[in-house]
Amino acid sequence: MMPSGHGQAKPHGTRHFFTERKKQILLVDDEVEILQGLRRRLRFQNPDWSMTLETDPKEALSRLRQQRFDVLVTDMRMPGMDGPELLAHAREIHPDMPRIVLSGQTTREASVLTASLAHRCLAKPCDVSVIGKAVSQCCRLRDLLPDTEFAKITGRLSALPSLPTYFSVLREEANRRDASLGRIARIVEQDPALTAKVLQLVYSAFFGLGGGASSIEEAVGYLGIDVIRALVSSNSAFEVLGPDDTGAAEALSRHSLLTGRLAARIAETTTSDPKLAAIALQAGLLHDIGKLVLDEKHEEVGAFLMGLWGLPDEIVDAIAFHHAPRESGQQEFSPLTAVHIADALLDEHDRPTRQRLDTGYLSALGLDGSIDSWRGEADRIIAEYCAR
Ligand SMILES: [Fe+2]
Ligand SMILES: [Fe+2]
Repeated sequence: MMPSGHGQAKPHGTRHFFTERKKQILLVDDEVEILQGLRRRLRFQNPDWSMTLETDPKEALSRLRQQRFDVLVTDMRMPGMDGPELLAHAREIHPDMPRIVLSGQTTREASVLTASLAHRCLAKPCDVSVIGKAVSQCCRLRDLLPDTEFAKITGRLSALPSLPTYFSVLREEANRRDASLGRIARIVEQDPALTAKVLQLVYSAFFGLGGGASSIEEAVGYLGIDVIRALVSSNSAFEVLGPDDTGAAEALSRHSLLTGRLAARIAETTTSDPKLAAIALQAGLLHDIGKLVLDEKHEEVGAFLMGLWGLPDEIVDAIAFHHAPRESGQQEFSPLTAVHIADALLDEHDRPTRQRLDTGYLSALGLDGSIDSWRGEADRIIAEYCAR
């Protein structure tokens, strides 16, 4: 379903759309030595990038008005115009251009605010390989969502709508003296917008947990109660849904939670790789996140947004291809496989006439013998959810 109307969609690393020309990267920092050193080392790793250096953010802004760049990387504190102002202008001029911030002075709580203007926040000093990886991931994203109008809508977003019940319960819990990480995690995982924001911060190099977290509780524990408190009191991290929209969002919340749990179970029983199961859980919780932006093309929109926010490629691919796993080109069991199976079996449970499981894809992976046991697992997980 993902590439409907867009035959260009192919898995990461084999895409060709937008790749004919050199990627244009704009680097902005008031310290010229830092910029030159960064360019030298990035060029060594990526000889086909064309990098433009600007020490004056006002000049950077006028360049942005004349030219489209594939990625903007900027410092936070600069004389004349600081990073947040430049980022806000950049968001207006080219909303779909990935915005990466390198910040030397931000506190963990303040990075919550930065994450509303920049897609990704990297702590200074930052290893050049981390910057290079972030830029490369960003360069590939437009291939996932070639539609410029959709990319602009998505790139402009700093917040996703959260369900009022979960948001207010989370705020209450975070502000308690005896706030519990376990309780916070159980609230977060029920709301895709809260899950996405927590994982954006966890995967941000600013928080230094590039390896991810094995559970939402571990993710929340890593950020700490103070950051969760800053998140729920920030005006920019979330929107809260109005009463008219909550019905569909509640259904999405239930479906996402069940998909995450079932995908993790499928991954656990198929592989002995706990990291794969952890990624399958996160990808399952987020697989339909695009529906919070646009129902149409929700796979592409969700994948683009989560990629901009710095979530790993395995999660981005699982979101992008969850309805059409063969189009990913992946030849082995992955978080995408687990999410595709979980999503299709849960959908089939709710609407038995709909058969979305790609049995041809599963038999090519030698997994068709397990479908009945996964169906049983889906029934158990749904019963558990209903009994709570
Ligand atoms: Fe979907
Ligand atoms: Fe789904």
